[in-house]
Amino acid sequence: MKQRIFLLLFAAFQLAASTARADEGMWLLHMLQRINEAEMQQMGLNLSAEDIYSLNQACLKDAVITLNGGSCTAEIISDQGLVLTNHHCAYGAIQGFSTVEDDILTNGFWAMSLEEEKPIPDFSVTFLQRIEDVTERVLADVTSDMDQATREQTIQGVISQIEEEERGINPDFRPQIKSFYHGNEFYLFVYRDYSDIRLVGNPPESIGKFGGDTDNWMWPRHTGDFSMLRIYADAEGNPADYSEDNTPYQPKRHLKVSLDGVQNGDFTMIMGYPGSTDRFLSSYGVQQALDIYNPSVVEVRDLKLKTMKSHMDTDPGVRIQYAAKYAQTANYWKYYIGQSKGLRALDVYGKKKALEDEFAAWVTASVERRNEYGEAIGLLKTYYENTDATVKGQVYSLEAGLIGCDLMLFAFRVGMGAQGLFSEDADRAAAAAASLRGRAEGFFKDYDQDTDRDLFINLMSKYMEDIAPDQQPAFFATVRDKYKGDFKRYADKMYPKSFLTDPVRFEEFVSNPDEKALEKDLGIAAAMSLIETYRGYFASPEQGKFDEGYRLLTAGLRAMNTEKMWYPDANSTMRLSYGTVGDYDPADAVHYDFVTTSDGILQKKDNTDPEFVVDGTLESLLRKRDFGRYADEDGDLVLCFISNNDITGGNSGSPVLNGNGDLIGLAFDGNWEAMSGDIAFEPELQRTISVDIRYVMWIVDKMAGAQNLIDEIDFVTAPKDPMQNLPKDMARPIEDGRR
Ligand code: ARG
Repeated sequence: MKQRIFLLLFAAFQLAASTARADEGMWLLHMLQRINEAEMQQMGLNLSAEDIYSLNQACLKDAVITLNGGSCTAEIISDQGLVLTNHHCAYGAIQGFSTVEDDILTNGFWAMSLEEEKPIPDFSVTFLQRIEDVTERVLADVTSDMDQATREQTIQGVISQIEEEERGINPDFRPQIKSFYHGNEFYLFVYRDYSDIRLVGNPPESIGKFGGDTDNWMWPRHTGDFSMLRIYADAEGNPADYSEDNTPYQPKRHLKVSLDGVQNGDFTMIMGYPGSTDRFLSSYGVQQALDIYNPSVVEVRDLKLKTMKSHMDTDPGVRIQYAAKYAQTANYWKYYIGQSKGLRALDVYGKKKALEDEFAAWVTASVERRNEYGEAIGLLKTYYENTDATVKGQVYSLEAGLIGCDLMLFAFRVGMGAQGLFSEDADRAAAAAASLRGRAEGFFKDYDQDTDRDLFINLMSKYMEDIAPDQQPAFFATVRDKYKGDFKRYADKMYPKSFLTDPVRFEEFVSNPDEKALEKDLGIAAAMSLIETYRGYFASPEQGKFDEGYRLLTAGLRAMNTEKMWYPDANSTMRLSYGTVGDYDPADAVHYDFVTTSDGILQKKDNTDPEFVVDGTLESLLRKRDFGRYADEDGDLVLCFISNNDITGGNSGSPVLNGNGDLIGLAFDGNWEAMSGDIAFEPELQRTISVDIRYVMWIVDKMAGAQNLIDEIDFVTAPKDPMQNLPKDMARPIEDGRR
């Protein structure tokens, strides 16, 4: 009886695996030829895998870059190093250039010449040179009976050695080895970083963030989520710190812009840097996320957002200072609400459980399997049981503690960086001072003491209230003993006295560093106590069970189903996802089209709601309907479209390419009905939301009037299909003809 059920489940799993093939998966570029090329070509790719990733010639990967070590993706769209990414990816930079008097966040900004481009402080982009599978060498001395700690030490030793060798071969490149499939495979990535990056243009926030947090993570969308940057290099085209003498970087490869637009069912591929997914998460992990982790993050962030908002609403200066921090906090606040909702609605727990039952039966069936994978499920079960009591404390140590108010993170960084000030080595001490001054500049620019103080008091008080005393940071005892358990009293001492809260006191400290003063500072003391608490959670022996459990489960699942094309979880390395443009049905009796048009902006317009303001210039241009070559075949301006590509955070700004490898859009979001997608991909529901390149170019051309930029771009249009001139219902089969 039991056996049968397992067989049925197995069949269902196989079926899901094969129908999900086309869209699910974040594929590694050096494996495309072996795993995906044939299927991609059959789906509509007119290129070879070698055109996408090659060691011998310029290829598509050379036009795709990551921002600031993985926060977002971007692409090169001219031979002069012009870069396109999302508005929300350059949001911090745009906000950083904004003041109440010259508010480019609200009004937008366009450089009409190279001279007007704004150098962005502390910003970098990274090019991928090559990928190499180093699994064999990394695991050469690892045996299956090694304990987890010895295993990790052994692996780390080889990784450091290979990276060292790579640096020896080419000091201009930055090697990095990462683990894939939960510690089962290892690949080397060789990178090159550029740091003179300038802001070229951004639409007003009312376009770039239209719909705000209300529309965030949702379709239908009407957001022009894009901005433009430029990479500068020295005279030889090499990376260089900012200098007036630097010139626009001439890339190996840039993307062409297609004005052909999208049809339902069109092939699309997306290249970029997805940050992290949890597709191998166990049922126990799903349960812990639902019961503890997600609600804890949401609860703390809720308070954080309310506290920030009360200050932003009353002070226009604070509104600008905290705009990026607010958006960042709100983004994953809403994410975790949606993820829990999705996990429940789609019964992800049940699906994981069924898979684990099947796995357990498969393991039990043979001695070798029992020896190899027998411990996987038990380790994970124990890990989650043993950590249920500490997860909330762990979340609070980070969300309410270290990244709660800005002062704590700043204090932690200063506390670490200040060690260099006391160095015997004068060069090292000078470098430490320079770096601290740089940090302080960034911090004070967007720091409002009243807001920060409120954040500190509200979040720490909640921390003390919600988390058991034996898990509280050590400095809470001081607050109890010396400040009557009242964080207001602690704040009253800390904010007026700490050298961290005032630029003059900060400069005094850096020019006359004093170890006593550092130790005694109440801000430093609190931050050091918080980091100790936070690190304690990860130093626990439970972590080894987690690492080993997932390594064995992942290896076992792959061995159990060798027919399935397995792809590794996202880890901020470059991936390609392919699929098709496609509409969907989000709920009973509801159908969502695959594109939105400019009409939707006018429908959503509400100038009394900051999230739905429509800029006057935009509105009159939209009403004139002068869409020129950017219009679709019905004369409409398409704003956004959806496709079933598999992406996640970090992919923001990624190029969406057609079968010819030309740019048709920029990915910028996922959809509400599949917010659990990072844990389990949902073939029927999961969609990538992209801004249509024609909307982007229309704004640059018609609204910004930046002809200088339009002239840099290579536009392509495919020869028109003669069928397109037929009446629409005759030209396309019914199932494609929804629009
Ligand atoms: N959900 C988008 C992402 O994670 C970010 C959108 C930013 N917009 C906002 N309203 N917070 O890439």
